[in-house]
Amino acid sequence: MKSYELRDKFLLFFKEKGHAVIPSASVIPENDPTVLFTTAGMHPLVPYLLGAKHPEGVRLTNVQKCIRTGDIDDVGDATHCTFFEMLGNWSLGDYFKKEAIEWSWEFLTSEKWLGIPKEKLYFTVFAGDEDAPRDMESYNYWRALGVPEERIFFLPKEHNWWGPAGATGPCGPDTEMFIDTGGEKCSPDCQPGCSCSKYVEIWNDVFMEYNKTADGRYEPLKQKNVDTGMGLERTIAVLQGVDSVYDTDLYKDIMDRIKQLAEQKYGQDEETDRAFRIVADHIRTAVFILGDEKGVTPSNVDQGYVLRRLIRRAIRFGLQIGIPEGSTPEIAQVVIEQYRHIYPELESNAETISRELALEEERFQRTIRQGLREFDKLVARMEKAANVIDGPSAFRLYDTFGFPLEFTQELAEERGYSVDVEGFNESFRRHQEISQAGAAKRFKGGLADHTEETARLHTATHLLHAALRKVLGESVEQRGSNITAERLRFDFSFPRKVNREELDEIERLVNEVIEKDIEISCTEMPVEEAQQSGAIGLFDSRYGNMVKVYTVGDFSKEICGGPHASRTGELGRFKIKKEESSSAGVRRIRAVLTD
Ligand code: ALA
Repeated sequence: MKSYELRDKFLLFFKEKGHAVIPSASVIPENDPTVLFTTAGMHPLVPYLLGAKHPEGVRLTNVQKCIRTGDIDDVGDATHCTFFEMLGNWSLGDYFKKEAIEWSWEFLTSEKWLGIPKEKLYFTVFAGDEDAPRDMESYNYWRALGVPEERIFFLPKEHNWWGPAGATGPCGPDTEMFIDTGGEKCSPDCQPGCSCSKYVEIWNDVFMEYNKTADGRYEPLKQKNVDTGMGLERTIAVLQGVDSVYDTDLYKDIMDRIKQLAEQKYGQDEETDRAFRIVADHIRTAVFILGDEKGVTPSNVDQGYVLRRLIRRAIRFGLQIGIPEGSTPEIAQVVIEQYRHIYPELESNAETISRELALEEERFQRTIRQGLREFDKLVARMEKAANVIDGPSAFRLYDTFGFPLEFTQELAEERGYSVDVEGFNESFRRHQEISQAGAAKRFKGGLADHTEETARLHTATHLLHAALRKVLGESVEQRGSNITAERLRFDFSFPRKVNREELDEIERLVNEVIEKDIEISCTEMPVEEAQQSGAIGLFDSRYGNMVKVYTVGDFSKEICGGPHASRTGELGRFKIKKEESSSAGVRRIRAVLTD
């Protein structure tokens, strides 16, 4: 079976079960600082899992572009990828465990669909703890389908619980489906959930009935939801009977091009093969980030930083296998070709992808040269007697100049020095602690956060957007929006600095609407109708065919997923804190609401 057939079959199966097919949302979450990237199909659906009405109904299905970089060090093995496509089906307070499990079983085993032999399938269910009971219900549904008890395993929260996607939000116990790939057990205890690749997890049915609150409690959700995710890459590898995701039709052309470009041979030793695969994975992910409808470019913060790291890692591992400098755009071209029919945004952004990759390659080469000079200075400063490069210096080379530890070790060796690896690891840990503390601060305010502050700031964002267009002209368009519980941040297209008088006028207009205490109304309509009615907002693919239009008198009309205040009078006073450049042709405003 080809990968496109699996995508098609999955959507068709759930369509036949009454699900609406919705498009993949962007890989960059909108209005959600809890995560940098869309990590699962459920992520853009959080407001609906929490109870908001989805315009397409209560049964949804799609293929979602996902990015997860948490396992970046595992990339290159048989199954880990930083980008993957997730096939998913959702029940928003409609069906629950019984149907979800029966349909998963039917899709996996029926000859009409995947036809996987039943005896190859294994299952895990939640073992229960102080937050939620043992999931005997799911166990019994599997048993009722004829699964023998020795093929169902009870596992704790770290295995069989999913979510929230950020620090707070919808979550619940899950049941996971595994395929026995046929190899030997890695130990007598080896079972589904073991990290060796004998049992490969291909599908996860999550029963989202809890909301994790900021103080760590699990409170029952208003509605019981189903959220499932099947990894396209892994499943197709199993169905095609190949050893790794890199041997599937999804990767074939990409790997072939890398093999043509490299001096080293693929298939000789594990370490070298890993480098080939890392190049393929990282460039594929970089293409999906650069080619996204909300495209991000390499930088030193947030998504831009992850992108930079992926590109630089790809270049570095590329050097290791003898890929000539400047090859990333060429490999990216093959990725675009592979996916352009399914994700046309890659083709329309092909020039940007190519340009940004070439620029980043140049920057990286410059940094390496600077880093080498830095390294030479470091060595020159060192006492002849001390032949060890200390941890903080090795870490600086890593952090500032992108030198991986192994690279510094090799350079050091050439000059008869060694590196304090322990000290490097210590600096690394300390740095991680600091950046995690920073990330934790950002966790409040995502789409999962329905606090009143967030709702008010969402509404304030609409008023700001409308006011900007009234004062600066209709060419102003939203480029990005990010809301935390404390402030809003809004990026928009505008070619120059917005001056003080203009900012004052924008503030005045917003506060005038707030003082009028106008009711905020919400209507659902098809996308085309919303566009024709003059509603503004990001008409990208994230909302599907039906959208919600929020109207504030005759001041603002905008599409949005919410949440919103009910009257403008609830907003308090609107204050712009800062206006600055965000990138070429894009300005950024930060604003707050005060009492
Ligand atoms: N959200 C679930 C997962 O990502 C389905 O595994």
